[in-house]
Amino acid sequence: MNKTILCIGAGYVGGPTMAMIASKCPDYRVTVVDINPQRIAAWNSDNLPIYEPGLDDLIRATRGKNLFFSTDVEGAIRDNDIIFVSVNTPTKTFGAGAGMAADLQYWEKTARQILENANSSKIVIEKSTLPVKTALAMERILNSQANGISFDVLSNPEFLAEGSAIRDLENPDRVLIGSRETERGRLARNAILEIYARWIPRERILTTNIWSSELSKLVANAFLAQRISSINTISALCEKTEADVAEVARAVGMDSRIGAKFLNASVGFGGSCFKKDILNLVYLCRFYGLEEVADYWERVVGINVYQQERFIMSMLTAMFNTLAGKRICLFGFAFKANTGDTRESPAIFIARRLAEEQSEVVISDPKALSNARMDLAGIDGAFHYIEDPYEAAKGCHALAVMTEWDIYRTLDYEKIYENMDKPAFIFDGRNILDHKRCFQIGFNVYPIGKPPLTHFEV
Ligand code: NAD
Ligand code: UGA
Repeated sequence: MNKTILCIGAGYVGGPTMAMIASKCPDYRVTVVDINPQRIAAWNSDNLPIYEPGLDDLIRATRGKNLFFSTDVEGAIRDNDIIFVSVNTPTKTFGAGAGMAADLQYWEKTARQILENANSSKIVIEKSTLPVKTALAMERILNSQANGISFDVLSNPEFLAEGSAIRDLENPDRVLIGSRETERGRLARNAILEIYARWIPRERILTTNIWSSELSKLVANAFLAQRISSINTISALCEKTEADVAEVARAVGMDSRIGAKFLNASVGFGGSCFKKDILNLVYLCRFYGLEEVADYWERVVGINVYQQERFIMSMLTAMFNTLAGKRICLFGFAFKANTGDTRESPAIFIARRLAEEQSEVVISDPKALSNARMDLAGIDGAFHYIEDPYEAAKGCHALAVMTEWDIYRTLDYEKIYENMDKPAFIFDGRNILDHKRCFQIGFNVYPIGKPPLTHFEV
């Protein structure tokens, strides 16, 4: 093994991405480092730090052979000339741009650490999602010392979605590599292209200038989130007009110019990236004086908040204008199915709002209960955590589906109904249940963007 790759940042992106590269390129030695020793210990154990279908098998096949997890960031920088950086880039919480701009402190620290420890020239690859023009700042920091060592900065944003990360990495729609259009830039780009070309057809590997690559990542997330906010606005109109949002989405999505994906109305989008990346885009637009453009994209986030608040208001009105003292069970807490990740999950907002209404909240989820506990720690309210959905629903006045886990589709709702307080309500924030069947059982059913099915006289 004479080729080596390093990834700094062993998170949701760094771990799975490097495991896939190690599996597809057995002649490369792939090292993943992190400053968080617990995370690295977990990557080296049987209890991986993240849940992702297929990840355990991939790690088992590569770890200790050509994939290594370590906390020795400095040593790894010295030993590797190709360095992916996949550290977190959250929204800034302080100073100028707080609540909007990307917090680049982890990125900049990594760049300085690379500079301090490098004893040969390096290719540094932005894997994290970053504001357009970050590479320029990185180049300036990295090339600030006249010591004969040079650095080429590339952009290679990651498009995987959680819950399907392994499938997305194995068979991506595209891989994007942005570089400087110089001889050195092209050489660096080819070194990375060579890695992906081991398993990805050449026509799906896009090469662009570095700024297009950085910006495309933000824009891709903004477009995806915009589709969800768009269909969610229509769900509100459907609820007023007896149209059915699923039927509308199907009719609209069958137009091949529009496409069928990402048109599922829901309680709102969550996840660590959509909101942060759109706000980052909004901040950039304002920075460049593009107020109208900024306002346009900011509404995508605004509508997402509106949709979550609408969900609470629908619960409140349906349940006779008071939720105080009522026991409400949340089916799901993860921001989407097949992950334990709860970052920016709409369930956090809903649980917090229910607590403000003085409800007792029972939280059930097959993978996300420990994260849920952390998310709600410190929030005033009565929260219970029960993994078994049948136990969780016992004695509740209402169920609210927060996550589209398959298990919720196939539960015995008759049994659940029997053990609930009457009248029993279902608020399906993902439109995954058989609403007619639940209604026949006795539930009053409130889907998103469809007429409710209730047993009350109008
Ligand atoms: P994460 O928080 O799960 O992981 C980041 C890791 O970087 C952490 O373990 C942290 O300890 C480590 N780190 C921070 N500073 C470091 C330093 N100086 N040296 C070594 N390690 C350091 O984040 P993530 O979800 O993997 O996201 C990483 C980047 O990828 C973000 O920019 C995100 O926007 C982007 N992204 C995420 C996803 C996703 O599905 N989560 C998908 C595409 C892109
Ligand atoms: C998203 C993008 O899909 C990835 O391409 C991107 O790499 C990633 O963000 C990132 O940059 O972090 P992810 O957030 O993991 O991936 O998951 P998505 O499948 O995009 O779902 C995001 C949210 O939208 C979830 O809460 C999901 O339930 C919701 N959603 C999705 C809807 O409400 N309706 C839909 O039709 C689709």
